[in-house]
Amino acid sequence: MPMDIHGVKSRAEHEIEAARDPETLEKIRIKYLGRKGEVTAVLRSLSGLSLGSRREIGPRAQELKRELEAALKEKLNGFAASYLRPKIDLTAPGKKISRGHLHPLTLVDREIRKIFLGFNFSVVEGPEVETEYYNFDALNIPPDHPARDEWDTFWLLENTSSGKTQGTKRKNDTRLAPSDKLLLRTHTSPVQARYMESHNPPFQIIVPGRVFRYEATDQNHEINFYQLEGLMVGKNITLANFKFIVEEFFKKFFGPQFTSRRIEFRYRPSYFPFVEPGVEVDIKLKNRWLEVMGAGMVHPRVFEYAHYNPRDFQGFAFGVGVDRLAMIKYGIPDIRLFYSGDLRFIRQFS
Ligand code: FA5
Repeated sequence: MPMDIHGVKSRAEHEIEAARDPETLEKIRIKYLGRKGEVTAVLRSLSGLSLGSRREIGPRAQELKRELEAALKEKLNGFAASYLRPKIDLTAPGKKISRGHLHPLTLVDREIRKIFLGFNFSVVEGPEVETEYYNFDALNIPPDHPARDEWDTFWLLENTSSGKTQGTKRKNDTRLAPSDKLLLRTHTSPVQARYMESHNPPFQIIVPGRVFRYEATDQNHEINFYQLEGLMVGKNITLANFKFIVEEFFKKFFGPQFTSRRIEFRYRPSYFPFVEPGVEVDIKLKNRWLEVMGAGMVHPRVFEYAHYNPRDFQGFAFGVGVDRLAMIKYGIPDIRLFYSGDLRFIRQFS
């Protein structure tokens, strides 16, 4: 007899029984039933045998083939069923779930809001696409005022046929009524004018928001950044009230860095058309002074635009650079890191 059918059967069945995965089963199938498999070889050799041997071996070889095919199929189905069943390994160590976290500028924004809410200021917001009137005119910056050059502006082109707008730098375009021309606000101060139009003093508000400037970027300047406007109007408000609020704010925001005098700051006289007198506040960062805030007493002309009588009320206003406060608080050397999307930077604040 060319082969021991009984021996092949028991070997194959044993191997099928021991197989632990479908790949092993496939190897077994090839070994016995593949083109060059052991059972296939027997079936092929039948034609060279005598009739008697053929009659004896043929049916047994065919039956072995069927049996192995059935055993392979059954085992494979068992694998499929156990793959579908969820496997829970109670001894496996837990996997760390990676959670997102807030951007440093959001953290700082929340912190600032909290501090000012504690001073009884209300939070007010205004539009990022602003009219020339609120961004400039109502703040005592008429069209030909040289101070407009301080705020390099992204103007929006009105495309009247499609109703769409398009960004460009464009000054002194006379096709539209000047004050209706649209721009990306260059500071949060226009919200002062908007708020005073519809509210009567006394009040104290902060206006956090995004602002835009058409200017070259460097480590301290971005073309889009965040400001926080403050405005307090009432009777007998003086610059002393402003200084108190600012210094209390710094104390709370910078904490021990400030109270231990590791953070130095100074007031410097300055000019903004919408305040009189005007000041700027600088903070020393690594032996270099960094300007963080413009401020002053609200100019009587701004009150007149809001239809307040400047003899009845006084107020202070300030606009602080939120990104720069964050740079100082966390020792960040370059403002552009905030907007880089670099996860290695962002992850340090989780
Ligand atoms: C203003 O924008 C005035 N509206 C501030 C103000 C408000 C004055 C109310 C008086 C009364 P200034 O352009 O200096 O001022 O900007 C204010 C602050 O924004 C700066 O002190 C600085 O901290 C920040 N800042 C200005 N330009 C940039 C810039 N390109 N990138 C990042 N921060 C900037």
